[in-house]
Amino acid sequence: MLYLNEKDLLKIGLHWNETVDAIESAVHCLEKKDFSQPIKPYLRYRDLTNRIIALIAFVGGKINLAGIKWIASFPGNIDRGLPRAHSVVILNEADTGVPVATINTALLSIVRTASVSGLMIRYFLKTRPQKNAKVAIMGWGPIGRHHYQMVVDLMKDQIGQIALFDLRGIDPATITGPAKDRTVVAKSWQEAYADADIFITCTVSKAPYVDAKPKAGSLQLNCSLRDYKTSILDHTKAIIVDDWEEVCREKTDIEMMHLDRGLQEKDTKSIVDVVCHDAMASYPKDEPILFNPMGMAVFDVATGRYYLDKAKSLGIGLELE
Ligand SMILES: NC(=O)c1ccc[n+]([C@@H]2O[C@H](COP(=O)([O-])OP(=O)(O)OC[C@H]3O[C@@H](n4cnc5c(N)ncnc54)[C@H](O)[C@@H]3O)[C@@H](O)[C@H]2O)c1
Repeated sequence: MLYLNEKDLLKIGLHWNETVDAIESAVHCLEKKDFSQPIKPYLRYRDLTNRIIALIAFVGGKINLAGIKWIASFPGNIDRGLPRAHSVVILNEADTGVPVATINTALLSIVRTASVSGLMIRYFLKTRPQKNAKVAIMGWGPIGRHHYQMVVDLMKDQIGQIALFDLRGIDPATITGPAKDRTVVAKSWQEAYADADIFITCTVSKAPYVDAKPKAGSLQLNCSLRDYKTSILDHTKAIIVDDWEEVCREKTDIEMMHLDRGLQEKDTKSIVDVVCHDAMASYPKDEPILFNPMGMAVFDVATGRYYLDKAKSLGIGLELE
């Protein structure tokens, strides 16, 4: 069994177009029903703001692995100087169940999450090409920072400006890379939101706060899932989810839209519709699109396959008995 840690993944590097490709190939497995993925259980005890989630899946095609991600989220950790999330992934050979890899780092999950957003951006750019796009990222934790890297790498010169906002403030020294000079720190979410062509939530907001009209034709990536008030439905009907059954629970914005505004699965499109059935092109060009990803185990397994193959070909990682 190959053991990989964060340093190993960093040696392999963050190659966003490649990890987005890995997610895209998993979406084709979803389309072909060549996967299995039970609803993920949430383990909670004592302080109910904490959770540990087990994400389990088999993905066929060229990925052909089963696996589990065991990911703990303790929002108070940040005040203890610890990361909010800790995660371990175990991958099993699809045909024998033999464990082939253990990947002990939340970075895998972070890369998977930003790559799913990257896939949405890839399809958004196909149907709505951008010039001097304004991008906004809310929350400057690991998820926000990696979204920044991903979006800069995928969009390059199509970006005019990136606005960042975090309730804790943002140290300018933490902003690095080729889009540094095009990056500004906003004073409020509203300042960044009003004219954002791509608005990305990566917060741990306790309550939804986005209550204004999004820019016409924009892409809203609701990565942190609990940021939009249900009034967003007054401004768009273009709602996309990764998996309705997963995302319509746990007090997500989608569950609130379901309970308060009667949003049903049939009113939404899925990530499969986007990739395999050109769903983004079916919306009027000026209608904002809101994507809500609960996070799917199949995408963790696909990202795990990517890093396992890379590690083997580069001779990275530790073989365990
Ligand atoms: N949908 C998915 O697949 C998926 C996967 C992984 C993580 N996530 C979510 O992404 C979010 C961020 O993860 P992280 O590891 O970076 O968390 P983190 O706690 O390390 O960082 C979150 C940051 O958001 C800031 N913040 C909190 N409320 C805010 C607000 N209202 N406006 C602006 N900033 C605010 C905090 O100050 C903090 O710096 C979490 O909610 C997590 O659950 C989603």
